[in-house]
Amino acid sequence: MNIILVAIECAPWSKTGGLGDVAGSLPKALARRGHRVMVVAPRYAEYVEPQDIGVRKKYKVDGQDMEVSYFHVYIDGVDFIFMDTPMFRHMQYNIYAGKRQDILKRMVLFCKAAVEVPWYVPCGGVCYGDGNLVFIANDWHTALLPVYLKANYRDNGLMSFTRSILVVHNIAHQGRGPMEDFCFVGLPDHYKDLFKLYDPVGGEHFNIFAAGLKTADRVVTVSHGYAWEIRTLEGGWGLHGIINECDWKLQGIVNGIDMEDWNPQHDVHLKSDGYTNYSIETLQPGKAQCKAALQKELGLPVREDVPLIGFIGRLDHQKGVDIIAEAIPWMMDQDVQLVMLGTGRQDLEELLRQFEGQHHDKVRGWVGFSVETAHRITAGVDILLMPSRFEPCGLNQLYAMCYGTIPVVHAVGGLRDTVQPFNPFEESGFGWTFDSADASKLIHALGNCLLTYREYKESWDGLRRRGMMQDLSWDNAAQKYEEVLVAAKYQW
Ligand code: GLC
Repeated sequence: MNIILVAIECAPWSKTGGLGDVAGSLPKALARRGHRVMVVAPRYAEYVEPQDIGVRKKYKVDGQDMEVSYFHVYIDGVDFIFMDTPMFRHMQYNIYAGKRQDILKRMVLFCKAAVEVPWYVPCGGVCYGDGNLVFIANDWHTALLPVYLKANYRDNGLMSFTRSILVVHNIAHQGRGPMEDFCFVGLPDHYKDLFKLYDPVGGEHFNIFAAGLKTADRVVTVSHGYAWEIRTLEGGWGLHGIINECDWKLQGIVNGIDMEDWNPQHDVHLKSDGYTNYSIETLQPGKAQCKAALQKELGLPVREDVPLIGFIGRLDHQKGVDIIAEAIPWMMDQDVQLVMLGTGRQDLEELLRQFEGQHHDKVRGWVGFSVETAHRITAGVDILLMPSRFEPCGLNQLYAMCYGTIPVVHAVGGLRDTVQPFNPFEESGFGWTFDSADASKLIHALGNCLLTYREYKESWDGLRRRGMMQDLSWDNAAQKYEEVLVAAKYQW
């Protein structure tokens, strides 16, 4: 099958979150299964390897002709195509910045161009558009792609064998606006209803995700739990009605992780400054050495016996940083150390600095984003906290388990799917979960976790090893995607 994944960010070239990771690694796993795979993403800066392939095309957006060109690089069986145009290059990695209408125009241009890439952009001398093609669009930014595929091609008898699937990584962002925004998408009036949505908060409005969900041949969410949650009033953010109508074509597939990148045995970020690579066989002393190196790097007392707790993530309401904040007084009464890494809302960034200032012997609040530090924290801490209010899949808990770090998570979405709670009677499970996003529940779960850390060394060791023994690679997920792609292509 020919598969083209279209996304607004793609690691390692551009990444603000998990979407970038997925776009960088799922395609490689699909290629390993023998498919011809391409990724189309915007070019936000001068990239070193991708080369200009000399193709120029013009697309009309809001009455103006926009020229785009294409850069190409072939890595691990995948053709990566970067669409270049000043509209994106000027963003300088600030991918989601700008006024609502400017963002919309960028997505319009990107999707109009991306849907034609298989015909205009030859890779290895051959085009992808030979009829055996399925697109994978991701989130609202590329939800226009299934719509253009239908409206501009399939409804006219063109590309009639091409199908699309739409992956929901986060339904909270939808590409909403007033109905007048319809004029920017450049479609005939009879497609207007596709974009129309009514909900009690926004009233009648224009909604890109709604149109994409209706027109895609199949819809995937990034976990089973999230597939269920987005059907509900609380989890669907106004789109639950449409999601329920899509039920027949909706499926949850838990993300995998890139084992080249996130593997304690080879991790390049653990090769210096006192850190070390380790595997399940060398878990001790490997992990203890990473913990000591992290304590040293952070300037915390180097003590093996004190439980070191971590948090990595965007500082916002979704990730539940405020819930940790509420639990801080309790935590500070315990003999623990805490390190938090992230950027986001200014007041939360300030809070991190404040905690560090008030509890200098116990807390580090690292405001910023550093890939290296994220890897080192994952390896060096004993426990990772994820009190997310909602979490479509979540990758940090998967990374944690691979590194023998114990997750303590709010049981939602992908966190519930992936962190099976510890059962001391059967010695099963991978971590601790709590069932509502509030500080008292977090304290209860963390309290039990700390007790096990201190008093039940064998259970703790078992938890670590079970986590590390799982196969969390993309290979399983890629097989499930393949089934959905086949279903999109051949089943009606
Ligand atoms: C979004 C979700 C996150 C998920 C990621 C990749 O960032 O918030 O839960 O892991 O997409 O699918």
